[in-house]
Amino acid sequence: MRELRIGFAYNEKPSEDAEPPSGQPLPVDRLPASNGAVPASLSPALHDRFAEWDEPATIAAIEAALRRRGTVIRMEADTDFPAKLREQLPDIVFNIAEGLNGPNREAHVPAICEYYGVPYTASDPLTLALALDKRRAKEIFRARGVCTPAYVLVGDGAGPDLPASFPLPAVVKPLYEGSSMGISERAYCTTPEQVAARVAEVVGEYDEPALVEEFLPGREFTVAILGNGQTARVLPIVEIRFDALPAGALPLYGYEAKWIWDTADQPLQIFDCPAPLEPPLAHALESAALAAYHALGCRDWGRVDMRLDARGVPHVLEINPLPGILPDPRQNSCFPKAARAAGIDYDELICTVLDSALARYGMRP
Ligand SMILES: Nc1ncnc2c1ncn2[C@@H]1O[C@H](COP(=O)(O)OP(=O)(O)OP(=O)(O)O)[C@@H](O)[C@H]1O
Ligand SMILES: [Mg+2]
Repeated sequence: MRELRIGFAYNEKPSEDAEPPSGQPLPVDRLPASNGAVPASLSPALHDRFAEWDEPATIAAIEAALRRRGTVIRMEADTDFPAKLREQLPDIVFNIAEGLNGPNREAHVPAICEYYGVPYTASDPLTLALALDKRRAKEIFRARGVCTPAYVLVGDGAGPDLPASFPLPAVVKPLYEGSSMGISERAYCTTPEQVAARVAEVVGEYDEPALVEEFLPGREFTVAILGNGQTARVLPIVEIRFDALPAGALPLYGYEAKWIWDTADQPLQIFDCPAPLEPPLAHALESAALAAYHALGCRDWGRVDMRLDARGVPHVLEINPLPGILPDPRQNSCFPKAARAAGIDYDELICTVLDSALARYGMRP
């Protein structure tokens, strides 16, 4: 049988000496990271713009895993991606590309694959765009009966300001960012004046509206899911342990926790997996996570970030249909950690995602 030709679509984080894309000044909470996942000396502009892109080590580890299934053709998702895809026409594309421009950036590679009729792993363009837009995702969760915190969109020039009845404290987030860009401790607001000030900062810094969300004070979890339809399965649940944060820190797994306090030398011991959970709560988290995954039409894999309200009821904060996957077990990365807890090593995790997509297309591994 002919060997499977696997295209591998990714965006690689620029090297430290790359030219910044713009000379615009950056706010304090978007300073360069000291996390091992990002070169400490990367300029602030590059760090922030490319925070979601992958390290060479991650790209190499995924490529090595995919080689178990066939020939791997690297296809960096740069402006030449459409031409490379048309020229190579691989049997399938393994997609982790986060994209570059605009609120639909994660949808671009899958859309181009569809255009050329090339199968690809993970969610389709519609799902990827919906998941990145936190308000649209929450509208769908609500319509499908998935609990998600109260919210209002502010700063889009159309909607009202914060209603007087809105529950405080609140978390103010840029509408379509990830990796906690814009979600530093400043995002936590206890008064309408703080909310208004933070919304103005978000609009000014990101040039996009802000989602103001009711702050949920309970425990936080993230739930990794593999597979499709009835056979989608939940991996062991990860709890975010706020007692691992520096004394006095707010209970947020935000910018500081991901990019400043967690270093390669001293990783925060912030994940507990499997989380210590009574069976009813574990079941409630798993069913809400699966409901969110299916509501948005996720495929092959995804990670659902969840938090409990004051009464202990799980709510979905957001869903990541292209989850981060650092290969080094010493680095904090939820999905590989959950997989390891289930006895699935890194290579097997990557191959399981590929096999799941192959099965969807009726192509056997
Ligand atoms: N409504 C909320 N109540 C309490 N904490 C919140 C709320 N929204 C966000 N947070 C905190 O901020 C963190 C980041 O928020 P969120 O997951 O929405 O952002 P993100 O940038 O998309 O994250 P990721 O890094 O997973 O892509 C959460 O993990 C949580 O700790
Ligand atoms: Mg999150």
